[in-house]
Amino acid sequence: MNEKNKQILLVKRPKGTPDSDSFQVIESDIKQPENGEVLIRTLYVSVDPYLRGRMIDAPSYVAPFQLNEVIEGGVIGEVLESKTDQLNQGDIVIGGFGWQTYYTAKATEVRKIDQDIAPISTHLGILGMTGLTAYFGLLDIGKPKKNETVVISGAAGAVGSVVGQIARIKGARVVGIAGSNEKLQYLKEELQFDEAINYKTTSNLKDDLASACPNGVDVYFDNVGGEISDAVHAHLNKFARIPVCGAISSYNLEGEDVGPRVQTTLIKKSAFMQGFTVGDFANQFPDGTAELAKWLNEGKLQYQETIKEGFENIPDAFLDLFKGNNIGKLLVKVADISN
Ligand SMILES: NC(=O)c1ccc[n+]([C@@H]2O[C@H](COP(=O)([O-])OP(=O)(O)OC[C@H]3O[C@@H](n4cnc5c(N)ncnc54)[C@H](OP(=O)(O)O)[C@@H]3O)[C@@H](O)[C@H]2O)c1
Repeated sequence: MNEKNKQILLVKRPKGTPDSDSFQVIESDIKQPENGEVLIRTLYVSVDPYLRGRMIDAPSYVAPFQLNEVIEGGVIGEVLESKTDQLNQGDIVIGGFGWQTYYTAKATEVRKIDQDIAPISTHLGILGMTGLTAYFGLLDIGKPKKNETVVISGAAGAVGSVVGQIARIKGARVVGIAGSNEKLQYLKEELQFDEAINYKTTSNLKDDLASACPNGVDVYFDNVGGEISDAVHAHLNKFARIPVCGAISSYNLEGEDVGPRVQTTLIKKSAFMQGFTVGDFANQFPDGTAELAKWLNEGKLQYQETIKEGFENIPDAFLDLFKGNNIGKLLVKVADISN
């Protein structure tokens, strides 16, 4: 094979909001598979906010990226060549292969995906990591009940858009907070959210939340942290639950994120706040995926994907997450499945 493996390396740790200077595209030889291995061609790459945390050289729940190494991340690919009985040429697989056009993997590093349930890209979104984050964060920690009010920040994104729909399936009243009128229209008209608020144009988010949540907030699914969350905390009901999923508003801060302290609110409201990572629920993933797929097939869940084309555009797609340029899951399409 004359073709080369294109790879994207982290060459500089970003300070503040990342830019394209942190990334470099290189070409290397494609590693031929040995016994027990497969050669995979990348089809879709997932870009995710948590990758920003891995660009910082500090301990976290996953190790930081090393400089001049390929950025790791979720990928769907096609098996081009197999030297294992467990996988065949043409199988579509998922794994953490990273930002590169080819990957040589041990059979144990990849999982074959079922192409019959839904388009393959959904396994990086609504049927994959972000869908499962919404599912377990909301149901295991948020525990919404019929007629309760669920508020979601980052509501039109990959996780938030699924959280709101599951909350509706459970009979809750759903209020989304997002950063553009196009997103608000999507939440209300396509996903049937009861109310949606544009945090970028509101003159007073606390007041808008009071109008949108006349009965207060029973569950706050927090994807963003910062001042948006401060405004929601002001409306918590007694025994409210707060799954803390993400804090994207602080990922590019250079100093400490200092804000109103939440302890007195939690005490006054006997509220429950729990941070989590989706990996905490790994042993339940098959059950979560099965229920998400069932709801999708019954038409109870829908999804939108923002798909950028072209391997070289992966860094730009990643930067788009911080500009709010996506509705639903943001993916990069690198190649079509071979015929
Ligand atoms: N705990 C876990 O295991 C887990 C798993 C997956 C994701 N997460 C977290 O969940 C959150 C959502 O992830 P996702 O994959 O679904 O991403 P996403 O919501 O699809 O994309 C990121 C969105 O965040 C919003 N945003 C960007 N900067 C912001 C800021 N300064 N303030 C408020 N909103 C901002 C933008 O929407 P707007 O236009 O609305 O600003 C953007 O579209 C992230 O915080 C992520 O780290 C956690």
